[in-house]
Formats: sequence, C-alpha cells, structure tokens
Amino acid sequence: MASYDVIIIGSGPGGYVCAIRCAQLGLKTACVEGRETLGGTCLNVGCIPSKALLHATEMVHEAEENFGKMGIGVAKPKIDWKQMLAYKGETIEANTKGIEFLFKKNKIDWLKGWGSIPEPGKVKVGDEVHEAKNIVIASGSEASSLPGVEVDEKTVVTSTGALELGKIPKSMVVIGAGVIGLELGSVYNRLGTDVTVIEFLDAVTPGMDGEVQKTFQRIMKKQGLNFIMGAAVQNVATTKTKAKVTYKLRKDDSEATIDADTVLVATGRKPFTDGLGLEALGVKMSERGQVVTDAHWRTNVGGIYAIGDAIAGPMLAHKAEDEGMGVAETIAGQAGHVNYGVIPGVIYTHPEVANVGQTEEELKAEGRAFKVGKFSFMGNGRAKANHAADGFVKILADQTTDRILGAHIIGPMAGDLIHEICVAMEFGAAAEDVARTCHAHPTYSEAVREAALACGDGPIHS
Ligand code: NAI
Repeated sequence: MASYDVIIIGSGPGGYVCAIRCAQLGLKTACVEGRETLGGTCLNVGCIPSKALLHATEMVHEAEENFGKMGIGVAKPKIDWKQMLAYKGETIEANTKGIEFLFKKNKIDWLKGWGSIPEPGKVKVGDEVHEAKNIVIASGSEASSLPGVEVDEKTVVTSTGALELGKIPKSMVVIGAGVIGLELGSVYNRLGTDVTVIEFLDAVTPGMDGEVQKTFQRIMKKQGLNFIMGAAVQNVATTKTKAKVTYKLRKDDSEATIDADTVLVATGRKPFTDGLGLEALGVKMSERGQVVTDAHWRTNVGGIYAIGDAIAGPMLAHKAEDEGMGVAETIAGQAGHVNYGVIPGVIYTHPEVANVGQTEEELKAEGRAFKVGKFSFMGNGRAKANHAADGFVKILADQTTDRILGAHIIGPMAGDLIHEICVAMEFGAAAEDVARTCHAHPTYSEAVREAALACGDGPIHS
C-alpha cells in the first residue's frame, strides 16, 4: 500500500494532464489506468488514430483531385489498408509512449489495473488499496447504445471498431451526422466506400452555426457522402457480413431500409463510471449519468473530484485537459479556473470546421444586438493557390462595444485559425483589435482579419 497526495483514476487527456500538473505543483501523484497503454480513448481509439486516418486519406484525396491541376502526374493512388492501419498504430504508440515518458520524468506512479473507490481517501487497484488525500475521477466516456442496434465491432461498429476494420467496406451506413459520423464517414468515402449518413435532425452537427451547417453538408455531399436527413434509425439486422438498417422518416412516418457492409453507430457518447463504486459512496450523479461537481470540480463527497467526459459540458479532450490543470491547481490551494465560454470545437474533415463562443442562433435567442463580419476564402490568395477556397470565416461581435462574441470557420486549417479568436476573446478583444493586427501575407489567417474588418468599415478583398 502506498500513500499519495492525489490519485487520478483514468489516464486520458483529462487524467494524464492533471497528473503532470499535480506533480509539477509538488504533489505526490499516481494515476490508475487499466488499459495496456496510457492516453485513454483519445490516444488509443479516438482523436489520435482518427486523425492519422484522416491525414492519410486526405493525401489520397489531394493526389486524386489536385495533383493533376498542379502539373504532377501520378497514377491513381493504390491503398494498402494494412500499411495504413500500421501507420495509425505507430502514431498511437509514439503518443502513448510519450505519456509514459512524461510520467517517469515527473515521477508519477502508473497504478496498472482498473480502480475503484472503496471509501473516501482510498483507491483499490487489483488487490491493493492505496491511500490518497485527494481522488480525481477522470474515467471518460463510452459510445452510447441505440435501442434495436447491437454493436459487434465487426459489422456494426462504434468509432473504436471503425478504426480497425478488417477491410475497406464497399458500403457503409453511418448513424448520426455528428462529429464522429462525419469525420469517419469522410475517411471511408475517400477510400472509395459508398457512405450514407442517416441523421435524426434536419441539419448536420447539432448546435453548430446554421450557415456553417448548411455549407458543411453541401461540401460533404459534393465529396460524395449521401445523406438521409430527418430519419430515426429503428433497428439494424445483421447476417454474418451484411447489415440491413431500418429507419423511419420523421415527416411522414414512412419506413425504409438500406443495406450496407458496415454500420457505424455515432449517436453520441455517455459518461463511463462503471465499477468505481460511486453509488455506494453517495456521489451525486445527474440524470444523464454525469458526476455532479461544483465550479472547482469537487463532488459532494469530501476529497473526491471529477473532470472531463465524466462530468457536464462538451465531451472534448481539450476541455478535459483544462479541467485537469484546473483541479490540480485547486487541490494545490491555487485558484483553478476554466473559462467555459472560450472552448473551441473542431471537426477535422476537409475542409476543417471550427467554432468558439456563441452562434448567431444563440445570440438571437438572447435578444442580443450583434454584428456579423463574414469573409469567404474565395478572396484569400493562399487558399486559391492551394485549391482550398471553399468556406468562410464569420466573426460575431457586440453591436455597441464591438467585443468578439463568437467565431465560426469552415475552410483550410480552420482548427488552427480559430485560436487567434480564442486568444482575442480571452483578452476581451474587439473585432477592431483583430482587424488592426498585421497579418502576414499570404496566409489563411488573413481571412480571419478580413472577417474582423467586415465587422467594421468592410473587408478589402471582397
Ligand atoms: P454527436 O452528439 O456529435 O452526434 C450524434 C448525432 O446522432 C446527432 O446529430 C443526433 O441527432 C444523431 N442521432 C441520434 N440518434 C439517432 C438515431 N436514432 N437515428 C439517426 N440519428 C441519430 O455524437 P458523436 O458524433 O457520436 O460524438 C460523440 C462525442 O465525441 C461528441 O461529444 C463529440 O464532441 C466528441 N468527439 C469530438 C471530436 C472532435 O472534437 N473532433 C471527434 C470525435 C468525437
């Protein structure tokens, strides 16, 4: 039995970042992880492997669509699926090993096994019980199930199975036009799979700016994805290698079916807290199965904290990381803080989609007076040169004070461009502050400046 200042349960982006920050702040720290490798869903079966496949298949797309236009003659790319999966595996390994190295460097103990909390101040891993002055639950999330749909991770898969299919399917039905559905749907579409996305709502990526939703769906359609909107999947019947998906159209309740080699269920995720013993401890949970915390990530049980996908808020790795740092600082007696109003969201399709702050729809619902500054990548020299001019930057600013309230980007490198606005928002900047900042030419970031200019006297290049 060992004694620690902090034991963190889970080594995903929330947990491992929390562990490193705790160690940096001088706390004796351990992190419990039951997987073979550190890094949680994100590094092992989520963000990192999906980005590897998105990158590889984007190269395929570039070669097929744009090489010829630039005078580069190549034969049609040949896909070696085994090698692509091996590349994905190497990417995962490099990242998970990196965290192991950081744990050693920061003298963090990795307690191998699945942890539970038999009583406050104690964490059980395997047969051993360790003492901890503070316990942080960072146990993450799992794919939510859909009634009538049984996942076997072979024919009917979640994102986990979709990242390691035995072969590239000829056809795929994706249930849910959210982030996972469109990212992984893009991967297989680029590999030649006939992808059909079935979505319950009438727009893709719920909660996103309406104009971005429309543009995004149009671009995805142009790339070859099929959409069945306003349809609820009723059930999926499988044979050994095929699936039949039955769905009901919401407009007239009519039922239809569609066959596919593979069905990807991407209808959201739910907190994963099984086996921790939270119920017996009396830890307060929400109706949605999230651990309830205060603004400093304290649960109702003394010495037990929770962060990341296990609590409320967007299920995003970087939100969990920030909470990990915040709770470490809280435990160390500092003022841990996360600004939930400035958490960017990114979809790593091509083009990328990124957002931060409020949408037009939200501002209208609040009755707030605001300005819209919009600039198309068609007016951006770099984007035109790179055959990447589809999309736009939209900045929303307060009508009176010009303070930036939100930004929505669909276009090249949107996931990187958004951070200029995040920093601006953290500093309470006005659109004019961004507009008056010199931006290097020729860069994609000039489109952000032009959108900021559009909140004032107008952009130059449109
Ligand atoms: P999501 O919540 O983004 O989208 C689920 C979609 O499924 C919704 O559009 C919903 O209307 C639809 N749906 C639900 N039930 C349905 C039914 N019976 N028939 C048809 N459609 C149905 O969930 P998703 O894509 O599974 O992602 C889960 C979580 O993982 C999200 O919180 C997301 O933010 C996170 N994530 C983030 C990534 C990123 O930041 N790039 C990448 C992957 C996941």
